[in-house]
Amino acid sequence: MKKITHLIGSGLLLTAAACSNPPADIGGSTPTNAQPFAGKKVLVAYYSHSGNTQAVAQQIARATGGELFRIETVQPYPDVYNRLVEQAQQEIQNGVLPELKTTVPDMAQYDVVFVGSPNWLGTYVPAVKSFLAQYDFSGKQLVPFFTHGGGGMQNCESDMHAQLPQAAFLPAGAFPGRSGGADADKLAGWLNKLAQ
Ligand SMILES: Cc1cc2nc3c(=O)[nH]c(=O)nc-3n(C[C@H](O)[C@H](O)[C@H](O)COP(=O)(O)O)c2cc1C
Repeated sequence: MKKITHLIGSGLLLTAAACSNPPADIGGSTPTNAQPFAGKKVLVAYYSHSGNTQAVAQQIARATGGELFRIETVQPYPDVYNRLVEQAQQEIQNGVLPELKTTVPDMAQYDVVFVGSPNWLGTYVPAVKSFLAQYDFSGKQLVPFFTHGGGGMQNCESDMHAQLPQAAFLPAGAFPGRSGGADADKLAGWLNKLAQ
């Protein structure tokens, strides 16, 4: 536990250092025995509009030796908050699957896929719905994680299970959205439990 907390702590430092110059989206370090999911090939895919979910994704990638993949839409979302809420509401209500900019080059190689999203209106974002619709996750463990503005998980996890009823999900993590990422102990505790 201490060791993993330490790993995440150093991940925080690296995350802070990486803010001005974000790491390449695909590319992680080699797992060691101290890491949760050691010996497994881990992908950490995430959507982030304002950086909070990205910060947690970076912590998870650092702690697990996973590779980062940023989910991005072809059409960017508005920066103006009210317009963003309006568009999010319209897309969620209508089950819109926005077109994504990039694809994971070789999804087959991964054993564990973390999938990160902000909580938007009580559920996960349409871009993550598009991502989940694009790949075959059979034989993989899927690990959802969410950041939120105080509402917690709400329907994020249950809605994701409903989208992929056959998938092998591990329990999701939910973290208050912060630019510096999740509380290191809370994140380490969740990762340790998952990997047991
Ligand atoms: C359109 C929109 C809807 C949101 N709805 C919720 C919500 O229902 N519950 C909640 O707790 N937070 C909500 N939030 C806050 C975000 O979940 C939170 O700020 C999150 O950490 C943002 O992640 P990001 O920086 O990776 O984009 C919403 C934010 C936006 C932009």
